[in-house]
Amino acid sequence: MVAADALVIRHAVTGSGRLLPMTAGRSRANGAIDGPWVVLIEDGLVREVRQGPLRDGDPADVVDVGAALCTPGLVDPHTHLCFAGDRSDEAAARSRGERYTGGGILRTVAATSAATDETLVRLTQGRLARALASGTTTIEVKSGYGLVAEQELRLLRLIGVAAGPLPLRVVRTFLGAHAVPVGSSPAAQTQAVIDALLRIATDADQIDVFCEPTLFDLGMTRAILEAGRRHGLGLRLHADQLRRSGAALLGAELGALSVDHLERATDTDARALADSDTVATIVPGPTMLLRGGRPPIEALLTSGALVAIGSDANAGTFGEPSMPLAIGLAVMLGFAVEDALWAATAGAARSLGLADRVGRIAVGMSADIVAWDVQHEGAFAMRPGGVAPAAMWIAGVPVRTAA
Ligand code: NIG
Ligand code: FE
Repeated sequence: MVAADALVIRHAVTGSGRLLPMTAGRSRANGAIDGPWVVLIEDGLVREVRQGPLRDGDPADVVDVGAALCTPGLVDPHTHLCFAGDRSDEAAARSRGERYTGGGILRTVAATSAATDETLVRLTQGRLARALASGTTTIEVKSGYGLVAEQELRLLRLIGVAAGPLPLRVVRTFLGAHAVPVGSSPAAQTQAVIDALLRIATDADQIDVFCEPTLFDLGMTRAILEAGRRHGLGLRLHADQLRRSGAALLGAELGALSVDHLERATDTDARALADSDTVATIVPGPTMLLRGGRPPIEALLTSGALVAIGSDANAGTFGEPSMPLAIGLAVMLGFAVEDALWAATAGAARSLGLADRVGRIAVGMSADIVAWDVQHEGAFAMRPGGVAPAAMWIAGVPVRTAA
């Protein structure tokens, strides 16, 4: 008889430089270990993390990353990657001073609805591959450029098709409440989204609402999220982005996983979030490009709120699905680079409700590890978007990227 453990696949990653495994909880500590260090992996999970050289009894299959900085795989908790069309003319207009109102979303809805399944899969897969090549190992992707039930369902399914051949983990979010279709009203779209849940919930993990006073107000947002919860979905909101509406507070009250954007949120909102388990997800790309307010970053960080960073790569406001860039921009917005890296790993995993599986290099977690082409995390601040993986693993399996 073959002993059960003969079937266990054991290997190790070792290095002589800095390993930042990240810690759980709210301290945002990176738990830095200076080399030599060893991460033992068994069947795709981290079995042991220790400082010191390889020892007798360690697996024979070892990859030495040398002096490379190593972190958990990056987690992008906020993207809208499934769309067709091009709205870069809007970005140009905003760079000349025009305001963003969210109105352009309907242009993308028209282009996306007109695109074939093949086109959407190709475009989405290209964006996912780009995210992977920049060190993202878990990513959230929202629907939201379909709006009507059949189109939203189509997008959620195509996100799954696009993700299929790629090794990164994809969390799908239903964002039917992203805009109001032509000829409808916010109230009618709210009801349509709630009605669609019966057909859609099995193709999504989470539900999101673009909560704005002129779009989906607090009452509509509450109705949609409570319905989503009844269908077993995790809750998240676009909150206090264009106006301060109290959406972040609603998210905390409902026990949402995350409230995102927060450009117009106040220090008081930040302290309320710190008293909750709801994560504040900051999206530095659109925040900086839209020039429409700055999240209460200091209040969030000093009050001990859970923070995450996302790329928010989307069709209209910011297009690059790169977490190294999001980290660099977060530093420009006021984050310490250590806080930004924690927010892009452990914090972002928490934002997706996956904190017990990804975002840290710790015993029992998925062995999602990136060895970077730099030796110190300060490089993420100094070279925004320029730091790249030298090697990476997802669930212990080496990843080959096109980069
Ligand atoms: O997160 N705020 C709403 N949604 C996106 C933008 C979508 C678009 O303009 O196409 C965002 O920035
Ligand atoms: Fe968004």
